[in-house]
Amino acid sequence: MLNFINGLPKAELHLHIEGTLNPELMFKIAKRNNIKIKYNSIDGLKKAYDFGNLQDFLNLYYQGAEVLIQELDFYEMTWEYLEKAHIQNVLHCEIFFDPQTHTTRGVAFATVINGIYKAMMDAENKFGISSKLILCFLRDMDEESAIKTLHEALPHKDKIIAVGLDSAEVGNPPSKFKNVFNLAHQEGFLTVAHAGEEGPADYVWEALEHLRVSRIDHGNNSMDDEALIDELAKSQMPLTVCPLSNLKLKVVDDLKNHPLRKMIEKNLLVTINSDDPAYFGGYINENYLAIAEALDLSKEEIGQLAKNSFKACFFEDFLKEKMIAKVDEYLLNYNQNLD
Ligand code: HPA
Ligand code: ZN
Repeated sequence: MLNFINGLPKAELHLHIEGTLNPELMFKIAKRNNIKIKYNSIDGLKKAYDFGNLQDFLNLYYQGAEVLIQELDFYEMTWEYLEKAHIQNVLHCEIFFDPQTHTTRGVAFATVINGIYKAMMDAENKFGISSKLILCFLRDMDEESAIKTLHEALPHKDKIIAVGLDSAEVGNPPSKFKNVFNLAHQEGFLTVAHAGEEGPADYVWEALEHLRVSRIDHGNNSMDDEALIDELAKSQMPLTVCPLSNLKLKVVDDLKNHPLRKMIEKNLLVTINSDDPAYFGGYINENYLAIAEALDLSKEEIGQLAKNSFKACFFEDFLKEKMIAKVDEYLLNYNQNLD
């Protein structure tokens, strides 16, 4: 199964670039920037990666991001991720970044986006891996700060495909960001939002109705609401599911109880992603493998998840079809080689 998953062409649609900052790189960048990390060693830091919930994780994730100061730091982090993604046969990824995490520390918006974007361009040239950027607003900050961030993004509009919503979910419903998402739509951005990770199914409804999203990030708690399940199935609204994240943040107690099986049975357009791979113990292929083993998924079902990732991405239709044909070709060849 591991071989099958490794070779499978796929897209990654739920990946926070700041969540790819692994301990080794964090220490290297901290040294370069003369920043003191609270932990004495890489192992000491890794031991802290034990989370009771989303907020526990976010505290460490924002602390880790404090080492990022220069364009080179953002470049290196993005480059390392894209190298790993390429090795795992990710052909396309749509990358979240959190500008407010950096601009509130005095790092310029341009420093952040230019470092990330240059690595994306270099990886496309060197590996042929394509990528797009999604700007996420921090939902535990106010809407005014999100609007300011949107304005800072406008000179870089050509580098950004969509805006999204992340950080602490409960108590920060999508409706809080209705105005900034309206502005983003007017500026021609697509929209996505984290919803139903720790928050209720109602937040998923809000993301659909108030934010007019093209995808729901996570969406687990949608399964509590039959009318919502019907709506997601009917509209084929993609859900970007992150199994190891859900396990590490205790959104599920065991992958065997993960709602993905039910989502598939209900004909939802589900995809597999890694969220914050440096913190959750696995990149995309480890996520595919863990959920495939826990739910006893067949090769056909896993192949369908990879096809879904291209269906749900922000490519034009003809490109989506080309990528889906690559998955079909892989499945056919794989089965023939087994005969
Ligand atoms: N949820 C919300 N915010 C986040 C996450 C997540 O899984 N990862 C990084 N920021
Ligand atoms: Zn996420």
